[in-house]
Amino acid sequence: MSGSNNHIADNTEPYDKEALAAAAQRLQSGKLVAVPTETVYGLAADASNADAIADIYRTKGRPDFNPLIVHVSNLAAARKLGEFNALATRLAEQFWPGPLTIIVPKTPVCPAAPAVTAGLDTIALRCPAHPLMQKLLQLSGLFLAAPSANKSGGISPTIASHVSSSLGNDAPMILDGGPCHSGVESTIVAVRGDDYQILRPGPITREELETALGKPAIISASDKIESPGQMLSHYAPAKPVRLNVTKATAQEYHIGFGAIEGDHNLSKSGDLAEAASKLFAALHLADSSASTGIAVAPIPETGIGAAINDRLKRAAS
Ligand code: TXA
Ligand code: MG
Repeated sequence: MSGSNNHIADNTEPYDKEALAAAAQRLQSGKLVAVPTETVYGLAADASNADAIADIYRTKGRPDFNPLIVHVSNLAAARKLGEFNALATRLAEQFWPGPLTIIVPKTPVCPAAPAVTAGLDTIALRCPAHPLMQKLLQLSGLFLAAPSANKSGGISPTIASHVSSSLGNDAPMILDGGPCHSGVESTIVAVRGDDYQILRPGPITREELETALGKPAIISASDKIESPGQMLSHYAPAKPVRLNVTKATAQEYHIGFGAIEGDHNLSKSGDLAEAASKLFAALHLADSSASTGIAVAPIPETGIGAAINDRLKRAAS
């Protein structure tokens, strides 16, 4: 399953047994490893090692007030870090392993280094479905903090070569598992007692959450920025981005969808899941093309379309 991309960095390793063992060892000794998940590539480190966590923030150039997601191999492991009430348990049982991050109160004995949660009394937890990330969790025996493996504010990586092009000389060992299946980051749900709030739309849709929990998500009136990564300008390509464009100018790289062909079409058949999986690669392509701007065709707001439009709005602001 080594990647099909043709310019991968020297420190990119194919997904095999030796590479996995070497990666687990590096993590145990406090080093970073870039690893694919079903959403995007993550920049992983031992969540309990303060120096390793500091290295994540340094490598990404990430502000230290923006907390990290901790990846676990199952719900039992997650319970060591976070308090799962009935609603949180239901979410985990229904959607894990998978692209859902659940924010719950930290346990009194939570082993995560304080910088992981950036001083909050809550923690973001996710049990990923990707077999490579799962094997790494099991082999290392660690809880793995992992933000997306790009420089802070940049476009998330969905293939191994995006990691090396974003992190450059700061890139650690990269495990190449090929392209990520979902292509947009996990849905983030904050548990608020018996209620829940969607902090970041993602592959698990609002409709799926509402069906599973039997009630709508709360929309907070005071929507303060509790999830700092949710600040507006994010995923920013270097070029200006225009949205809902049916006809681009000659200077623009046009990302198409459905019948709007464009220079590069996210899904000719209008399939939103396919479009999500291709979104960040298209933004990377558009950004490195000769065009002076990027135009994007309209994307329906239904299902995972909400996550696509969320990322596009951030890219355009
Ligand atoms: O799909 C994903 O979630 C990927 C893969 C690697 O798992 N990871 C990812 O991490 O997208 P990152 O760091 O790029 O985004 C994490 C988001 C940030 O917006 C951060 O502010 C938020 O999670 N977050 C983390 N802990 C939080 C907490 N305790 N309360 C609220 N938001 C939190
Ligand atoms: Mg990110």
